[in-house]
Amino acid sequence: MDKLLIEGGTPLAGEIAISGAKNAALPLLCAALLTREPLTLTNVPALNDISTMLKLLAQMGVKIECHTVPAAKVGAGGAAFAAVTLDASGLDHPVAPYEMVKTMRASVLVLGPLTARCGEARVSLPGGCAIGARPVDQHIHGLQAMGAEITVEQGYVQARTTAAGGRLKGARLFTDMVTVTGTENLMMAACLADGETVIENAAREPEVVDLANCLIAMGARISGAGTDVIRIRGVERLSGTTHRIMPDRIETGTYLCAAAATGGEIRLTQTSSSYLDIVIDKLMDAGCEVTLEREAIRLKAPARLHAVSVRTAPYPAFPTDMQAQFMAINTVAEGTAVIRETIFENRFMHAVELIRLGADIKIDGNTAFVRGLQRLEGATVMATDLRASASLVIAGLAAQGETLIERIYHLDRGYEQMEAKLAALGARVRRVK
Ligand code: UD1
Repeated sequence: MDKLLIEGGTPLAGEIAISGAKNAALPLLCAALLTREPLTLTNVPALNDISTMLKLLAQMGVKIECHTVPAAKVGAGGAAFAAVTLDASGLDHPVAPYEMVKTMRASVLVLGPLTARCGEARVSLPGGCAIGARPVDQHIHGLQAMGAEITVEQGYVQARTTAAGGRLKGARLFTDMVTVTGTENLMMAACLADGETVIENAAREPEVVDLANCLIAMGARISGAGTDVIRIRGVERLSGTTHRIMPDRIETGTYLCAAAATGGEIRLTQTSSSYLDIVIDKLMDAGCEVTLEREAIRLKAPARLHAVSVRTAPYPAFPTDMQAQFMAINTVAEGTAVIRETIFENRFMHAVELIRLGADIKIDGNTAFVRGLQRLEGATVMATDLRASASLVIAGLAAQGETLIERIYHLDRGYEQMEAKLAALGARVRRVK
């Protein structure tokens, strides 16, 4: 298994390009299931989660063509901007097998589109996951309210439409909690339903809006995406289109944190600050100078950061996917930060690994108290999930000496060419086989 060796203590400096958003790309790939015409997505990040989703779609009968943009257009830091064309005209096997779903929870995003387009779907339950139980009951309840008959047998969700003509029916849906993929799944299903669907308590994440914009370009009638009430008037069929995936706001935030923790100065291009207001505010509270350009962000770190407390909650509040990175920057800040996680029940696994680097962190339920130290010392640590891995990279870059991060396959799931991008910023990092 690959490991990442980091020689810490060098302030990051320079410029890199940010990739397309993983969490926008995954539902957008599934949107191809809703139409018989080709859907082309550009700015697709080259990530393991994307390959997993492409394999899952291919075994259902979706034809996939990947085009890599010529080297001349590859951004600084080695980001490869690829386009993918998906043709689901031959979709004949609406099944998502366990072997594929178990490696990626977002596979559940095929459930809504398959049920809407084929009138049936058989999708394995995602199963347990390192950051909590993460059930899919809201996805299931929503589809049931739209007239699908659903049974759960032998670990598989079996959905079938019962109405004559096989279409789902528009319905008023209210989710018990704000769920991002739940909102996306139900919004996609509703596009082909008979009548109007209203999703209340909808997720407002920018990735939901990116998906809605693509669906609208495909002919869907959606209003309210980006608010907590989304209305979808179902149509009989959708067409193909070409859509550029939004920049990855979590990748952007992660590199900003890495520069902040190392006392560096960086410029990130092909990104936008518009979805990162709270993260940028917090970095400014920590003492960073942040300059916003139209499609770029520049950050200059102070000699020492101030501690900043955060509380995670659904968008537009502080994202849970940035919590681990902020814990890392607080380990070397001046003062004590309080970090509260309200979305996932088991998302502090990075804390014990940060403590191996010398960090002073106390956990009490869903709250972590982080007392900043002058410096961390390199050590061997283990990555436990995607964003936890990112926090260990940030801490390793800030620490004195060598840090060896084990199980970095988690990073490969969600960060495109991380070593190349960090190297372009002057970090001393190496992948060890
Ligand atoms: C998405 C993101 C993930 C991010 C998370 C929260 C993708 C591919 N992944 O995950 O990176 O960390 O949003 O911003 O976009 N829940 C239920 N029942 C359900 C659905 C959710 O109880 O049917 C709970 C979850 O266990 C969790 C909370 O609701 O506690 C929010 O989860 P959700 O927004 O659904 O996360 P994901 O969409 O899986």
